[in-house]
Amino acid sequence: MSISIPRGTQDILPGEVEKWQLIEKNARELCERFQYKEIRTPIFEHTDLFLRSVGDTTDIVQKEMYTFEDRGGRSVTLRPEGTAAVVRSFVEQKMFGNANQPVKLYYMGPMFRYERPQAGRFRQFVQFGVEALGSADPAIDAEVIALAMSLYQSLGLKKLKLVINSLGDKESRNAHREALINHFQPRIDEFCSDCRSRLEKNPMRILDCKKDRDHELMKDAPSILQYLNEDSKTYFENLQSYLTDLGIPFEVDPNLVRGLDYYNHTAFEIMSDAEGFGAITTLCGGGRYNGLVEEIGGPETPGIGFALSIERFIAALNAENIELPVNASVDCYLVSLGEEAKKYNVRLLHALRLAGFSAEMDYLNRKIKAQFKAADRLNAKYVAVLGDDELKENKINVKSMETGEQTQYSLDQFIEKFKASLI
Ligand code: HAM
Repeated sequence: MSISIPRGTQDILPGEVEKWQLIEKNARELCERFQYKEIRTPIFEHTDLFLRSVGDTTDIVQKEMYTFEDRGGRSVTLRPEGTAAVVRSFVEQKMFGNANQPVKLYYMGPMFRYERPQAGRFRQFVQFGVEALGSADPAIDAEVIALAMSLYQSLGLKKLKLVINSLGDKESRNAHREALINHFQPRIDEFCSDCRSRLEKNPMRILDCKKDRDHELMKDAPSILQYLNEDSKTYFENLQSYLTDLGIPFEVDPNLVRGLDYYNHTAFEIMSDAEGFGAITTLCGGGRYNGLVEEIGGPETPGIGFALSIERFIAALNAENIELPVNASVDCYLVSLGEEAKKYNVRLLHALRLAGFSAEMDYLNRKIKAQFKAADRLNAKYVAVLGDDELKENKINVKSMETGEQTQYSLDQFIEKFKASLI
């Protein structure tokens, strides 16, 4: 019996992988310009890290983590997201003491959530994310949002919607929390068991419940924006004016909650507005998490970041019918006619590659016509034909596949001449 790929995962094959590489390249280049440096953390962490950061009442922690005991009896978890590990590393590596502040980091890599697979929802997916730690300036919130928007736009996405909200500071959240409890308590029996247990622990999560979203009480639930204190209000207004200054359109949605517990003040999501995009329209999510560094054992440090998945990025590109410029080609394909010529070509091929060209030759002992076909399939720019006779005369024939023009070079000067003709 053959073995198939696990549900919710995918193989990314040549032809498709070039799109991934282009997105990753653009992300790295943007981070360089925005001055975010790459951090690489382990794929698994102690389970406690996620309980403490993502929050033990969230779906991620309650239902979606790949948690197991290692052979030493420790509970470890495949990372469901990147922020917790970055903050853990920030504390452990004492980055709060770095001369350069704020500390601006980015990461790219696989995350794991045991979710019900569907379009845009995988059990293993790749996140690109950034985290800026050490600044409580709303200008950096705007910078983080601008980076995400710029990445999408750099590859031609147009149908984007940025939605922002403020979750306020602790005081505002406590006031909101109380209002939510008062609102839901009298009829909490009509809600699902998850919501019933959320009422005391984390009533804001009720607003994000997928099962009870149509309940009558949801519509007029108290909005966090009514409970923002002066500081939180000012912070949110400043963010909005920075976004306006940067020319980034946005909508305020007081019901934007986010599925992780560490947020306060700014919360945002970027959605695809493209027609035909599946039910899950969120491409990117992020927000501010002042207090998380202390929670993980570090000194008081504000932070903000976002993460987006490459899977949904590509789905959005498809929905907008955007073809990425990823047509691969080969600079030179070597065709061999005869044993001696083939032997020579093995060395010539290696020399071409070392000289910086992409080059290929036939390894299936094909006839000349089939070798040309193979060159075509690889989208070769030039085909160099070497026969045993040419070899004796120190010559090689080169054909431009674009113009059909043929040139004869002296074999020992071939690479030099080829270099010059390609420039
Ligand atoms: P999140 O909203 O859980 O936030 O995920 C961020 C993004 O990851 C989503 O908007 C989506 O693009 C992608 N994503 C999540 N789950 C899946 C899935 N099952 N399949 C495909 N893509 C998925 C976080 O992870 C936070 N750590 C973001 C953050 C960083 N906040 C502050 N800093």
